[in-house]
Amino acid sequence: MTIAPHGGKLINRIVPPEQAGELLARAATIKKVAIDERTASDLEMIGNGGLSPLEGFMSGADYRAVVKDMRLAGGLPWTIPVTLGVDPEVADEIALGEEVALTGGPGGDVLAVMTVEEKYTYDKRERCVAVFQTDDEAHPGVKATLNMCDVLLGGPVTLPRPIPHRRFLEYRLSPVETRALFEEKGWDTVVGFQTRNPIHRAHEYLQKCAMEIVDGLMIHPIVGETKSDDIPAEVRMECYKTLMDGYYAADRVCLVVNPAAMRYAGPREAIFHAIVRKNYGCTHFIVGRDHAGVGDYYGTYDAHHIFKEFDRAELEITPLFFDHAFWCTKCGNMASTKTCPHGKEDHVFLSGTKVREMLREGKLPPPEFTRPEIAKLLLEAAKGAD
Ligand code: ADX
Repeated sequence: MTIAPHGGKLINRIVPPEQAGELLARAATIKKVAIDERTASDLEMIGNGGLSPLEGFMSGADYRAVVKDMRLAGGLPWTIPVTLGVDPEVADEIALGEEVALTGGPGGDVLAVMTVEEKYTYDKRERCVAVFQTDDEAHPGVKATLNMCDVLLGGPVTLPRPIPHRRFLEYRLSPVETRALFEEKGWDTVVGFQTRNPIHRAHEYLQKCAMEIVDGLMIHPIVGETKSDDIPAEVRMECYKTLMDGYYAADRVCLVVNPAAMRYAGPREAIFHAIVRKNYGCTHFIVGRDHAGVGDYYGTYDAHHIFKEFDRAELEITPLFFDHAFWCTKCGNMASTKTCPHGKEDHVFLSGTKVREMLREGKLPPPEFTRPEIAKLLLEAAKGAD
């Protein structure tokens, strides 16, 4: 069994290798528009089909429908705007229908050719309130949105090749490749796990509960932009590999990086995350406590409740909801309030802030919270970062 991509067709906006030269030659003769790292990660996902059915940066109609109704203009569920902002002076120079070359990365390489079909302005505060439920500038997603350029360009993109990268190359699988991998492994059902953190015992518990009912697990960490106090992707990748080697059945798990940037949009991002994992071929998706949350902007289970606003058939991927998980000293195992009768005083749970504080002080987080091998890696990384 394979799950259909969102909208029914897996998009591929990367030309076959034999056409790359021609596209790059054309790109050399047209206007260049430099894009930032976040936009480049969206471009990467449009190119490889991770954001199917998007074929480019959103039109005004799609943008407005997403912000207002959590749907594309055609009605398909979609909760996060995927847009390309430019300064008004740059927009003024571009005619409708004109092709521009999108450039980025350290060398300012041509990443794609875009046909600019539309230029439109937008209300950033309105976007923030809709997507993040706040326009508080202390929220990292709000801050990123308010820093965006004032005019949005809409239109399809064509990439001469996958976005070039230097890190995590063997883990950088496209949706076509993950779908082929699942097939090769004989996994009919696969649960996707979103994360921007090292995998602690609570994460592992969620994953393993899910693994009892599906054939395979895809650990799919975000390696695009995250907020500055999140653990860097390089350190996390070492943690994931170490954990998989020590504690997971090798033929039941795979590690694939997700090039996207974190939005910290809580419930709306949970839907977006599920749709992306569906495009990668996952049939199930884990949504735990305060999924994609930050600070206390969202209720602990808002990211569960938002799934009620969509028809199961429209999303197709099955969300697996988990309550807050912790180690219980009386139970002697991982548990949640669904399964444990004991009180908070018996539960070992540490916030991200607390863990960072311990690491800064040179202390190892306890084994009930994180596996010793992971604690050691995190401590070494914290020492190195000083
Ligand atoms: S997130 O921003 O990617 O959601 P994180 O990497 O910490 O942050 O979480 C990954 C997934 O695990 C999310 O689905 C989140 O809801 C879930 N999760 C994290 N910690 C817990 C916990 N203690 N109990 C239950 N779910 C959790």
